[in-house]
Amino acid sequence: MKIDIITLFPEMLEGPLGHSIVKRAINKGLAEVRFFQLRDWSNDKHNRVDDYPFGGGAGMVMKAEPLAACIDELCQTTNYDEIIFLTPDGQTLNQNMANELSLKNNLLMICGHYKGIDQRIRDLYVTREISIGDYVLSGGELAAAVLADSIIRIIPGVLGDESSALSDSFQDGLLDAPCYTRPAVFRELSVPEVLLSGHDAKISAWRHEQSVQKTKERRPDLLQ
Ligand code: ADE
Repeated sequence: MKIDIITLFPEMLEGPLGHSIVKRAINKGLAEVRFFQLRDWSNDKHNRVDDYPFGGGAGMVMKAEPLAACIDELCQTTNYDEIIFLTPDGQTLNQNMANELSLKNNLLMICGHYKGIDQRIRDLYVTREISIGDYVLSGGELAAAVLADSIIRIIPGVLGDESSALSDSFQDGLLDAPCYTRPAVFRELSVPEVLLSGHDAKISAWRHEQSVQKTKERRPDLLQ
């Protein structure tokens, strides 16, 4: 899986995608992540990539030409399955979407900044628009990092324990059951007996019951 990201702020992505599970996936050769500084495709002598919005109003708009030039150049060497624009007015990211995207070979993500990108880039190139939630961030970088992380961690072979991605909250439409580790008693709070029983079927049943209970309480919408 290759993920290419067009951004004005690659440093905002290097941190989140340079550690832990994502780093391990990259080191194992299971994922490749590349950042492209959009300013390198500016044809302006001051390297500007934004301009005033037609019709007036607050905020600058990212110009079409540098984005088109950058995307065109990347498309010459990579056949992208999806060209994704991160935007608060996109489809809200969920686990099903991450699962689906983790099966693709090549993804291109575009991070907007300022007021947004020229609509014609969305019309001409973008195949998918994704939001990470109903709030507005300063730009698409943190959203791209969240999306890339959610995809990379479930690529087969990335997690040591293959089953642990499958038992995550949301993977079966339920929130995760509580988990415990040693010591068995901490500040007078004991681990539920069943988890110490060694009885796999009983443990599975307990976890399922806890998941259903928690989902009913916190996210009844998921049970519908
Ligand atoms: N850019 C700004 N806010 C965003 C959000 N919530 N999701 C995706 N991209 C964004």
